[in-house]
This record gives sequence, C-alpha cells and structure tokens, in this order.
Amino acid sequence: MNTSRQATGKAPEKAPEKAPEKATVRAGSNIAFIKYWGVDDATLNLPQTNSISMTLADAYTTTTLEWLEEGQAATDAITLDGVPLDERKAARLVRHLDRIRGLAATERRARVVSQNNFPMASGIASSASGFAALTVAACHALDLNWSATRLSAVARRGSGSASRSLFGGFVEWERGHDDATSVARQLHPPDHWQLYDLVAVVSGAEKAVSSEQGHQLAASSPLNAGRVASLEQALHEVRTALAECDLRRLGPVIEQDALAMHAVMMTSRPSLLYWQPGTLEIIQAIRHWREQDGVQAYFTIDAGPNVHLLCEAVDVAAVQARLGTLASVQQIIVSQPGPAPLQLDEHLF
Ligand code: PMV
Repeated sequence: MNTSRQATGKAPEKAPEKAPEKATVRAGSNIAFIKYWGVDDATLNLPQTNSISMTLADAYTTTTLEWLEEGQAATDAITLDGVPLDERKAARLVRHLDRIRGLAATERRARVVSQNNFPMASGIASSASGFAALTVAACHALDLNWSATRLSAVARRGSGSASRSLFGGFVEWERGHDDATSVARQLHPPDHWQLYDLVAVVSGAEKAVSSEQGHQLAASSPLNAGRVASLEQALHEVRTALAECDLRRLGPVIEQDALAMHAVMMTSRPSLLYWQPGTLEIIQAIRHWREQDGVQAYFTIDAGPNVHLLCEAVDVAAVQARLGTLASVQQIIVSQPGPAPLQLDEHLF
C-alpha cells in the first residue's frame, strides 16, 4: 500500500482551520480455499484455525471516507450502493468506526460512501472487501501510517475474512491469540498463478443467518472438532499446491473443506442450510464434467447457495459455456487474483 503521508499515530485534538480529512480506497473481496468458520473469541474475532484465500481483482468495494470536524455531526452518515443506511443497518459499520476512533483517540464522526462492483447477494463476500476498504480509508484519512499487517488485525475485528483482503494474491490468516498475532500475510503475489474464480449465482436472495451469527454456532456441531483437527494437514496441502501452482492437488482439498464446513453448518444447533437445489446441481455437474470430459475445475462454497468454480485460463471458456446450460445458473461472475487495497485519487463525493 502506498501512502506518502506522515504518520502521527493520533488525530489532531483541535484543528478547526484544517480541512476535513478524506480518503478513497478500493479493496478486493477474497475466496477462501480453507475456510474460516467458527470463532474461539467472538469479541476479538479470533478464529479456531488458520485460513487461506485468493484476493479477487474483479470483485471489489470502493469506499470514500471523510472525517468531519469535531462537533460537526453527532452520528456517522453511511451510504452503501446508493442507499443511506438507517441506524440498524449501519450499526455494525459504526461499531467498527468506534473501534478505529478508540485506537486513534478521536471523537470525530465520519461520512462514508461505499460502492460494490458486484451484487451484494452474489455469493461474493462484501463484508471482506467492505471492511477492508473501510478500515484502510478510515486509517489513511486519519494519517495513521500503519502497516498492512496491523491494518489486517483492525479489519479482522469488523469481519474475519476482511483481514485477508489487506493483501493481494494468495493470503493466509494466522489464527493467533490476540491483535498482534491474529493477522494475515501474503503467501504469493497476484501474478504467481493465473487462477480464475467463476461464481455461479443461483440465488440473489439475502441470507437469513449472517456469517457473524453462524460463527458462534459452529461449536454446537458434533462435526466441528473433527474438521478443526483435520485442517493442519489440509492447510499444508493447500500451501504446497499454491507454491507449485498445482490445481489437481489444490482442487480436492478445497472441495473437501467446503463440504466439511457446510456439514458443520448443517449439523449445528440450530441447523444452517445455505444450499439451494441449484447448489447441488452445480456440484454434480462439475464432478461429471471433470470425470467424463477432463474439465479441470473445482468448487468451493461460502455461507450461501452460490458456487465458486476455480480453474485455469485454458478451461475458463468451457466452464462458462457449460454453466450457461444449467437451468439454475442466473449469472456468472469471473475474477482473477487481485492486488492489495489501493488508495485512489478520485473520491466518490
Ligand atoms: O468474515 P465473515 O464473518 O463474513 O466470515 C466468512 C466466512 C466464509 O466466507 C464462509 C469463509 C471464509 O473464510 O471466507
């Protein structure tokens, strides 16, 4: 990340003559190969295990944030995809801004305008890109010259997966045990491997149970402990497959963890069932295309019904064409590995 500003570590206490501080940041979402599901500490957002993802170039959030002068406004004003958020909808974002205000020792309220370039209910994690962009914009606008590692810990508190969107390419979030250790790091830059993520959208409906609530249910599943115990080996396999750009090695591991995570979801109390009939149609189809026709594509699924298919450039057209023949696929979004959050000169307001 690039900022030429001087670090102050703290916002000025009173600077009425100074113009309000503003920053605009674009952050990519990410797709997890080994999932974050289940929290050890819900307050700090400490996960049960490490997770590994690819940051997406073509699914991102752009956020402009302006810190107002002290006393200028009593509340934060947040607009998301053109819609001003009411108090209830803004609550999670305001809590995150409160955290940043606490760290920076400021009382200033913010004006925030945020825009996703993908539909919110597309199965692409808007919380990952959204909290990454919000964190970086808020900290840049306060002249806090923090490292990406430190910013990843701050973003983690808003949404766990956002910690991984602080880095480009292929990223691992270390489980850790506090803010200094539960941070993300880059495994490989975006140009290490031209892997494609094709998101097959089968439903645009908003999910009934948020992942924030879902993480707290994981421990109630009898399968959770088994999944957690198996992940050390799976993480090792994914690191090796990524280092070697070996899709035939990566694919089976990511499919198994997606199924293991959904098995935990389905067997938690209460049970979470995110799948739709179309989800299963795509899983069956991809297995068939692979076995019968040699198409090298593998699936993963986040906390929703839509299916992400990972493949290399040579198979993109075939996978896209085949997905297009399935009745349940409403839309396909294609993305490659993307960069770390970028600070933009052009603001949204
Ligand atoms: O960051 P959250 O709280 O939205 O959780 C993300 C959970 C999954 O997307 C299902 C998995 C992951 O690691 O991204």
